[in-house]
Amino acid sequence: VALPFDFGSRDPRFIEIVADVRTRLVGLATAHGGDAFTAVPIQGSGSFGVEAMLGTLCPRETRTLVLVNGAYGRRMVHMLQVMGRACEAYEVPENTPADPEAVAARLDASPDLKTVVVVHCETTTGLLNPVEGVARVAAARGRRVLVDAMSSFGAVPLDAEVWGLDAVVSSANKCIEGVPGFSFAVVRRSTLAGSEGNAHSVSLDLHAQWLGLERDGQFRFTPPTQALAAFRQALLELEAEGGPVGRLARYTENQRVLLEEAASLGLETYLPTALQSPIITTFHQPADPAFDFRGFYDGLASRGLYIYPGKLTQANCFRVGTIGRLFPEDFRTLGAAMRSVLAAQGVTDARGPRVAV
Ligand SMILES: Cc1ncc(COP(=O)(O)O)c(C=O)c1O
Repeated sequence: VALPFDFGSRDPRFIEIVADVRTRLVGLATAHGGDAFTAVPIQGSGSFGVEAMLGTLCPRETRTLVLVNGAYGRRMVHMLQVMGRACEAYEVPENTPADPEAVAARLDASPDLKTVVVVHCETTTGLLNPVEGVARVAAARGRRVLVDAMSSFGAVPLDAEVWGLDAVVSSANKCIEGVPGFSFAVVRRSTLAGSEGNAHSVSLDLHAQWLGLERDGQFRFTPPTQALAAFRQALLELEAEGGPVGRLARYTENQRVLLEEAASLGLETYLPTALQSPIITTFHQPADPAFDFRGFYDGLASRGLYIYPGKLTQANCFRVGTIGRLFPEDFRTLGAAMRSVLAAQGVTDARGPRVAV
């Protein structure tokens, strides 16, 4: 309903939408610490927001510790390298969460590591990293903590003030269920205020974007007006669903049904349940030689059901997202469709590869 409305980007009604969205985003990032934080939307997909966060908030003459256990952590290392910022990757296997004690040890060993960057839900697998624990050891040592909460923000619990985070970045089209077009960072005001001139880029400068928004409520450059109007509507719908708690309950139920359906087919998950977020689930591809991923994907897509290829470096997998405007019955439908496509391929055993012991 909100999407087709063609606002002028300098129209007072659009400026009011932007202000309202910013206030609501701060409210989602922290229950009580709102005054200490501000929300800065920025044009572009999630990666643009991540790059803006890194470029603006990782001080130039210091090093940054990046926790890596998947493609999105790895991408942040790449971004820092491209912008010429010194960084150290703390890499663990893709099925292993970052360890706060290991982070503490690295920070103690290297006083020039001034910033710690971590992905909340590593969407490569669906693994949840212990952001609160990482932030605790980093903040106790006076380090900055920047979080890529792209696929978790608005559903998986997080409190920027209580956890001592400096910035959290996400985008319009994940758990808040807007349409693509922009990303946003919720940033500690004091950290942002001290970051003037640090950015590597004119358009991806969160500090300059913030000053522009504070000055006249407007984006510096053409905003995705429709995406912002739709996003405000999405935020109202999130609130109507009971906020992040209500949304997480639906996603959790979506995943419960998905896992039940998958188990009945014999499909096996890549991660142990304890590490698995309700955002996206990674399954081993069936080891049965009759299985063909392309045909499996196309068979589901022809029924209007879209899954994701795997993104792992180590294992042959596929992924199923449980976020977005999806409900438990959709995962019953998916289960039935997977059963029929696997049967059509002649797959008799949907289990993943047997690992030699
Ligand atoms: C954790 C995480 N970080 C970054 C991104 C990149 O976002 P985008 O594809 O919108 O640029 C994604 C996308 O799924 C993500 O899940």
